[in-house]
Parts: sequence; C-alpha cells; structure tokens
Amino acid sequence: MEKVTVGPMPYMSVMPTVLVGANVKGKANYMTAAWATVACMSPPMICVAINKVRYTAKGIEENKTFSLNIPSARQVVETDHCGLVSGSQADKSGVFQSFYGRLRTAPLAEECPVNIECRLFKSMECGSHILYVGEIEEIHADPSCLTDKKPDIAKINPLIYAQATYFG
Ligand SMILES: Cc1cc2nc3c(=O)[nH]c(=O)nc-3n(C[C@H](O)[C@H](O)[C@H](O)COP(=O)(O)O)c2cc1C
Repeated sequence: MEKVTVGPMPYMSVMPTVLVGANVKGKANYMTAAWATVACMSPPMICVAINKVRYTAKGIEENKTFSLNIPSARQVVETDHCGLVSGSQADKSGVFQSFYGRLRTAPLAEECPVNIECRLFKSMECGSHILYVGEIEEIHADPSCLTDKKPDIAKINPLIYAQATYFG
C-alpha cells in the first residue's frame, strides 16, 4: 500500500500524562505534561520537553530539581487544571498536597500514586521546548499501587494521552 505523507509534527502514538512538579520562588507548582519518557536505564533517568515560556521551567532552572508525578484517572480534573492554568497567573500550590523527599526542593503530589523525584542532569534547548533530563533520586509509591514491590499499572490506572484526549 502506498503511504501518504502527513507532514512533520511532534507525534507519538501514545503518551503518558504526568505532572511536573517544581518549586518556583519557594512555592510548589504543578504542570501537566505528555511529552515525557524514560531517557536512560543506568543511571535511571527520565526526560520531559517543556516550553520555554512555562512557569515550571523557571523552577527547574532555579533549583535544578523537579518531579514527575503519575496521576490516576481519579485525578483527571486536577490534572487538566494544571495543564490549562499557568502558575504565573494563578497559585497552583494547593491543587495537590505537597511533600518533599530526599532532594528537599522537588515538590511531590501526595494524591498521585507514584512520585518520581529527579535531580536535573542536563537540559537541551531544542527550539520552542527545552528537553530536561532528570536523574531519578527516588520513587515514592502508594503501597496500594504495588504488586511484588513494583508499581502496577492496573492499580495505578494512569491517564494516557493521545489525539488531544485523555484515556483512562
Ligand atoms: C494533556 C496536556 C499535556 C501537556 N503537555 C505539555 C508538555 O509536554 N510540555 C509543555 O511544555 N506543556 C504541556 N502542556 C501545557 C502546560 O501544561 C500548560 O501550558 C500549563 O498551564 C503550564 O503551567 P505552568 O506555566 O504553571 O508551568 C500540556 C497540557 C495538557 C492539558
């Protein structure tokens, strides 16, 4: 079958929905991101592409730490809110209850079943977006979401993002 070209665009078939946590001027801020994935196995790293204009980018640059929080489908309203409203316009520190792990400056959202705290390893300016690569310092998980001490996708019930829509 002959293929049809659809033009270059930032495309992936399926993406996760995560909340990037960063302290900005000492206050927790959470931003929804779908452009996030694993970057390295050893040492364990993840990466996320964040538009330069985001308030979150200021916090990552300020502290050199950030978190990725995995919301469950139960948190879809709060997650969508963090993707529509900027911390530069409204205080999002109360959307989730924050706690801090080893890094002390990467806010972790209590309500999300899995929280990944990262130390900034490298950032790469690609154009509109900066690719932030974070070395994972620790992962915090609700015991109810684990099977054999590992995060269990069936118990987490994460939000998948594809074609500008959330899938539970
Ligand atoms: C489902 C969803 C996914 C998003 N993914 C990204 C992303 O990967 N990178 C990005 O820069 N913005 C992304 N956004 C947009 C930001 O979340 C949005 O602009 C947010 O208000 C930024 O918050 P901040 O200014 O407090 O950092 C996404 C929004 C939604 C709703």
